[in-house]
Amino acid sequence: MSPPSRDSPQWLRVTLPPPPAGEGFLLVDALHRLGARHITRREDRIVALLACHDPDPRELVADLRAAVRASTSLGVESIEWSQISESEIDEAWQRDVRPFQASPRLRVVPSNSVGPRDPSVLRLSPSLAFGTPSHPTTRSCLELLDSCVQPGERLVDVGTGSGILAIAAALLGAAHIEAYEADRSACRAAIRNRALNHVESRVEVIEARVTPESLRKLSDSDRIDGVSANLEPAALLPLIGSLARLPRPGGWILLSGVPRAELPTLRESLGSELLDPVTERVVDGWWTGLWVSRPRSPREPEADRPGH
Ligand SMILES: C[S@@+](CC[C@H](N)C(=O)[O-])C[C@H]1O[C@@H](n2cnc3c(N)ncnc32)[C@H](O)[C@@H]1O
Repeated sequence: MSPPSRDSPQWLRVTLPPPPAGEGFLLVDALHRLGARHITRREDRIVALLACHDPDPRELVADLRAAVRASTSLGVESIEWSQISESEIDEAWQRDVRPFQASPRLRVVPSNSVGPRDPSVLRLSPSLAFGTPSHPTTRSCLELLDSCVQPGERLVDVGTGSGILAIAAALLGAAHIEAYEADRSACRAAIRNRALNHVESRVEVIEARVTPESLRKLSDSDRIDGVSANLEPAALLPLIGSLARLPRPGGWILLSGVPRAELPTLRESLGSELLDPVTERVVDGWWTGLWVSRPRSPREPEADRPGH
């Protein structure tokens, strides 16, 4: 391995005990704000990987301790850390991502699992992109996707990360999914994963930061049957009004990534005149919701709608 430099991030592997009930999402949120990827629970410990751009990780460790102290009641003396290389990360990823029955029709397995090609099995290769069943928002989205994707649908996945939701939708029968992702290395992981699952012709990975403006253009140009967006609150909340207008009347929208405390803001921005709720759930403090788009009355043209 080449020596660490300020340009190539090294990785810090951090382990902590699970926080008391009700503080799980606060811890995960604090770790994400510090750049954590791939947060998992292994036996009685939480394990997270943090990119460390400084060869000396002590400053990051100090920031981590301060963030954990500020957001949870965990004792910071219980935090353990070590430096880890990319190849060790790949090995740890393969160990952490265990075969998981994500929904009635879909099982997620790491790429080193052997077995014949099977549309009920979604294979994931090691990467630091967000998007494995280890996160409750991804798990909730996978489960709800199974209930709403119809064969032949045209879908949009905003913030595809590892590509997991877009690939799941393709395996569940969707005809075409535009999968948007702002982060280049996550796009590379999504492209690897779609090849691994033989859905290259149906999952289009688009490297782009989605904005309200780009969503407006998209809804004008295409008929969209369904939309998934599992995004951090800071990314989701500004997009929510435009996301709500994307699916065709009768189409669906699946949103996730918001801690329970942010729900009132989310509901306010969503525009209850456009959508009917189908179901919602909160897992470990993280909310996920599914809606269907209301039929638009011909007497109420789009342009006349408030806020459009
Ligand atoms: C919480 S992860 C979700 C990954 C995956 N869809 C899942 O459900 O596990 C959110 C992803 O959205 C990406 N992202 C955030 N804001 C975005 C935006 N405005 N446009 C495109 N991608 C965005 C992030 O880089 C990250 O990979």
